[in-house]
Amino acid sequence: MKSEGLQYSTMLRDEFPAVHATMLEVQQHLPDPVAPALAAIINGGGKRLRPALVLLSAHMFDVDAKHAIPVAAAVEMLHTATLIHDDLIDNALIRRGKQTLNANWSAAATVLTGDVAFAWAAELAARSQNLKVVERFSETLAIICKGELNQMFDNRVQLPTEADYYDRIFSKTASLFALAAESGPLLAQRDETDVQRLRTFGILLGEAFQIVDDVLDFMGDEATLGKPVGSDLRQGIITLPVLHYFRRHPDDVRISTILARAGRVRGHDGYARSEKSIQALIADLRQSDAAEWAMQEAETRVAEANTLLATYPDTPYRQAMQEITAFAVQRQY
Ligand code: IPE
Ligand code: IPE
Ligand code: MG
Ligand code: MG
Repeated sequence: MKSEGLQYSTMLRDEFPAVHATMLEVQQHLPDPVAPALAAIINGGGKRLRPALVLLSAHMFDVDAKHAIPVAAAVEMLHTATLIHDDLIDNALIRRGKQTLNANWSAAATVLTGDVAFAWAAELAARSQNLKVVERFSETLAIICKGELNQMFDNRVQLPTEADYYDRIFSKTASLFALAAESGPLLAQRDETDVQRLRTFGILLGEAFQIVDDVLDFMGDEATLGKPVGSDLRQGIITLPVLHYFRRHPDDVRISTILARAGRVRGHDGYARSEKSIQALIADLRQSDAAEWAMQEAETRVAEANTLLATYPDTPYRQAMQEITAFAVQRQY
């Protein structure tokens, strides 16, 4: 299933280019190697799910597209900036099938380029002239950064609980989906009931999306994914399917190998875990019911998310939102 083939892409065909052009304005006043590098990242694709959610949510609440476009661009720009920094933190060399900035640039240059992207995102959020949107925007950025810091300084030597897992994915993924989804009622100045409902919808969708991402980390195909498989395991991160697997195999000594980096500051002990043991674990995970079990968890969340949407009139925009929830669990990349 490719996102380009979906109905919402057709529905938003006039708005997506405007979002894209708004993001590209970041190039102004940037020195030569930075402007084209940022433009290449923006032009390099991505599924654009978050701006689609902003635009569709805005349509659901009768917000004029011209007010939603800067917010859609702000949300995708925030996402882009977090990815630039995340790839540096994770020492990831490939994203969206292309070399990352940190693959070729110093950490200093990569950080500063990410910062420029963050600053542009903030400026675009401010264009909404909606204080609530700006407030929610800065809160979300803080949540994402604190999530990365918590992960970096995580000292645990035991398996995380499911609650720990959901806390972590709220920070890194669901919080931004929540912001995207609630921006329609925020821009429309609807009451708290609608804002909360769309926000909860975004959290459920974001959680489902991240669970699928965590399944694809060992079930997926590198070429399709555009990023390396097994990267969570290599970083010592226990995702939901992996947690399920180890709960079924409590005596598996690899639990401590995967968690071996706990107690040290992540990012300062290299990537020493043996590639052979990672590959063996990936093979075992693939043989197990871990993916199927985790996909059920994702499906449950998507079903709940759709129930929340069902309280609104059955318009093409609502249907397009439901199309996105379906895509979140059916995607292969
Ligand atoms: C990647 O997000 C980071 C996660 C939250 C898993 P996406 O999978 O939406 O990335 P792009 O924008 O489509 O590349
Ligand atoms: C990326 O997290 C999401 C954020 C930085 C908020 P991950 O490190 O888990 O995702 P990928 O695998 O690089 O896309
Ligand atoms: Mg990463
Ligand atoms: Mg990361």
